[in-house]
Amino acid sequence: TTSTTTEVKPREQWTGQTGFILAAIGSAVGLGNIWRFPGVAYENGGGAFLIPYLVALITAGIPILFLDYAIGHRMRGAAPTAFRRVAKWMESLGWFQVFICFVIGLYYTAIIAWALSFFVLSFNLGWGDDPAAFFTGDFLQLSDPGVSMQFVPSVLIPLVAVWGVTIFVLAAGIAKGVERTNFIFLPLLLISFLILVVRALFLDGAADGLNALFTPDWVALGDPSVWIAAYSQIFFSLSIAYGIMVTYSSYRNRRSNMTSPGLVVAFSNSSFEILAGIGVFATLGFMAHQQNVAVGELEGLTGPILSFVTFPAIISEMPGGQIFGALFFGSLVMAGFTSLLSILQVVSSAFQDKFGWSPRKAAVILGSVSAVISILLFSTTTGLIALDTVDMWTNNIGIIASAIATCVGVIWVARRGEEMRLHLNSVSTFQVGKWWLVLTGIIAPVVLTYMLIEQIRTLIV
Ligand code: PHE
Repeated sequence: TTSTTTEVKPREQWTGQTGFILAAIGSAVGLGNIWRFPGVAYENGGGAFLIPYLVALITAGIPILFLDYAIGHRMRGAAPTAFRRVAKWMESLGWFQVFICFVIGLYYTAIIAWALSFFVLSFNLGWGDDPAAFFTGDFLQLSDPGVSMQFVPSVLIPLVAVWGVTIFVLAAGIAKGVERTNFIFLPLLLISFLILVVRALFLDGAADGLNALFTPDWVALGDPSVWIAAYSQIFFSLSIAYGIMVTYSSYRNRRSNMTSPGLVVAFSNSSFEILAGIGVFATLGFMAHQQNVAVGELEGLTGPILSFVTFPAIISEMPGGQIFGALFFGSLVMAGFTSLLSILQVVSSAFQDKFGWSPRKAAVILGSVSAVISILLFSTTTGLIALDTVDMWTNNIGIIASAIATCVGVIWVARRGEEMRLHLNSVSTFQVGKWWLVLTGIIAPVVLTYMLIEQIRTLIV
């Protein structure tokens, strides 16, 4: 009989509940918290935005987070394997998520590399007097589209470094690589960011910034696009339906509480988001104060422009701006990097589970392939032009479709929703009632389908 026993290595595991929670928070807290939430909230009703935001969190965010956890934990596999164990046809949904993560990984690394460059630049305010011209002109060299395959050293060098460290961490595996990195970076991130927020609150004009962010515009609640913005923010922010939470929970011990950690992750993520809103808008209030304008007249309040143009301009004018800059860009790097690990772990785990590769083999092969593509696209002037389009297709359309397929596939087609619910309850202290099936099976898919139609409609018109 010895000849028939193939040696099956036990599945890797987090060292315990804390490790899993840290990694899950590390994934959720990312660029979306720092540069996306504050501006989105401001533009969609300010203080009133918190209502659709909380509704989205409770009706779709947390329920689908639990569903992702249940699939990964019960089926004990990376996204394709776990979904195949739910129903054969669903393996393709898993690979779709792997593909999305692969694509996001290509440019998420580039953004972290930019932040790393700006971290270094902040020590001598190296972006000069005109940060807007510096960012697109000198830094990204977009002003000269003719030389499309020319490498930009200030992007190339940090990008190579980010890929190198990423491959190194993923090769070390779940406990020694991903968990350990989160264990270091997450506390550091929290401390740096808290110092930054406290400093921001003491800037002249900080109160005006906070008023601009939190003054509620109740009329906005009647606008469907405000609700769509809230649901999109929750999805992106909690990293659900990307295969990430399926993958991460597949590495938990068989008997471990799933729902209570889920609540911790969800509320930590939202708390960080609101903290970021306070920090960013206090800082913007200072800028408005300096320029003697109302906060509402400022531009460039979200995304790369907020981080790499607006913030550098403010930092240059601020007493002690060098330290503030280092804290801000350092936070971006740390928040982004822990999210990046989770995105690429989806790709790595998928190949490990499908082809029996070791973590090291998967990290080196997949990491090198991604690194080469990412470097060719994003340290030259070629890929940047496509960034917005790719982001739209992956993060808006792709992820919503993936969430609909997950809910409808598991609950209505495979008819395994009740099994998932009982599974969660058998291991967890916080019990989910039948309401959970109503939310994931009916409410979330209806809202998501509406969002998908709206997204596609705006693409066509
Ligand atoms: N949740 C992360 C954020 O808020 C971003 C992210 C999105 C991470 C998708 C992984 C996958 O920034």
